[in-house]
Amino acid sequence: MTFSFPKGFWWGTATAAHQVEGNNTNSDTWLLEHVPGTIFVEPSGDAIDHYHRYHDDIALLARLGFNMYRFSIEWARIEPEEGEFSLAALDHYRRMLATCHEHGIMPMVTFHHFTSPRWLIARGGWESKITPDRFARYCERATRHLGDLIGAACTINEANIGPLIVAWGYTPPADVLHQAPWWQATAQALGTRPDQLSSFMLASSPLSTETVLMAHRCGFEAIKAASASKTFPVGITLALQDIQAVPGGETIAAQKRHQINDMFYAHVKGDDFIGVQTYSRARFGPNGLLPPEDGVELTQMGYEFWPEALETTIRDAIAKTGLPVIVTESGIGTDDDSRRREYIRRALGGVVNCLRDGLDVRGYTYWSAFDNFEWMLGYRPTFGLVAVDRKTQVRTQKPSATYLGDIARKNALDSYM
Ligand code: BGC
Repeated sequence: MTFSFPKGFWWGTATAAHQVEGNNTNSDTWLLEHVPGTIFVEPSGDAIDHYHRYHDDIALLARLGFNMYRFSIEWARIEPEEGEFSLAALDHYRRMLATCHEHGIMPMVTFHHFTSPRWLIARGGWESKITPDRFARYCERATRHLGDLIGAACTINEANIGPLIVAWGYTPPADVLHQAPWWQATAQALGTRPDQLSSFMLASSPLSTETVLMAHRCGFEAIKAASASKTFPVGITLALQDIQAVPGGETIAAQKRHQINDMFYAHVKGDDFIGVQTYSRARFGPNGLLPPEDGVELTQMGYEFWPEALETTIRDAIAKTGLPVIVTESGIGTDDDSRRREYIRRALGGVVNCLRDGLDVRGYTYWSAFDNFEWMLGYRPTFGLVAVDRKTQVRTQKPSATYLGDIARKNALDSYM
């Protein structure tokens, strides 16, 4: 059976500045990668040099058949010191946006994707009362320079990532973190105290959640005000897993749904869309998070191959926010590209089910366009539709790139059932 997607459906791929550009040296993440005892398995280095190669990269995405590209602009480059804005950096992103238009691609810009300028973190980062205002000022300045070329915007990527990865046990809770030598070394390098260091991805306290949500609200208003003459949709994105309960785990699963998802849904009123980012499911039993179920295939990330999670999270996001959904990330880290194709086919099957039920889903964005720097795990996980040889920076498209690109071009999915 063939399903035709609504006219104007966005077919995208995504990247984030720090993961692809290279040498994001003024960011907190670069520092975290380099302190003694760092939890990053390797530094990001030149990444895939997208900073210089974006033109050919965007042309390749267009040739593949995509009509949308989601990328982030880097606050640490645009405002390298507090209140000092770099016109050269802003012009760089203007050229990237213009390149998208040249190739018939709608650019979706993320204003904050995990990394922050060092000066912000030195002044209390994501637990400081000044941060929402500083974020809004950056959003305003960047929108004034770039807004006429932006197609859609995400204020903050995965606003709930800090609480989520602590709840899942990927990163230590704050009290353990503050004792870690690498954390203390980072605080020292920034001239702050370990308990006052609050880097986005590792910030999980109620205060950091409040700060992030306030920054979203202020950033949203600033972007809207600065783009008044040519508006575009603005929203936030959330990391959403299909949180399931096995018998006895219902109460914990409900608590986690509240902490990780619903708390954030409550703050998106008035936004133009909600960005859904889903990779897998998480199961809870009476004693908490369960390991992957026996017999279920794992991805390179160690979590379950569970593309069906996307349908559940889209339905939940729409039911709880009433907003249109754009799938701003869906993807898999695997070295077997045929499994990527299967993952995409089944994830898209879920999108089709939602659309057939009349739900307002506006686009599907695959993470990621290119193999890139997967944060603490370095370059080992490969999420890309396009492989990159980091010695030569040669790009090679994988069969899954052709598969998804063809679906995008036809705006239709064959054999989805
Ligand atoms: C993030 C990306 C990350 C991807 C794959 C999302 O949480 O937005 O930066 O690379 O998942 O793990």
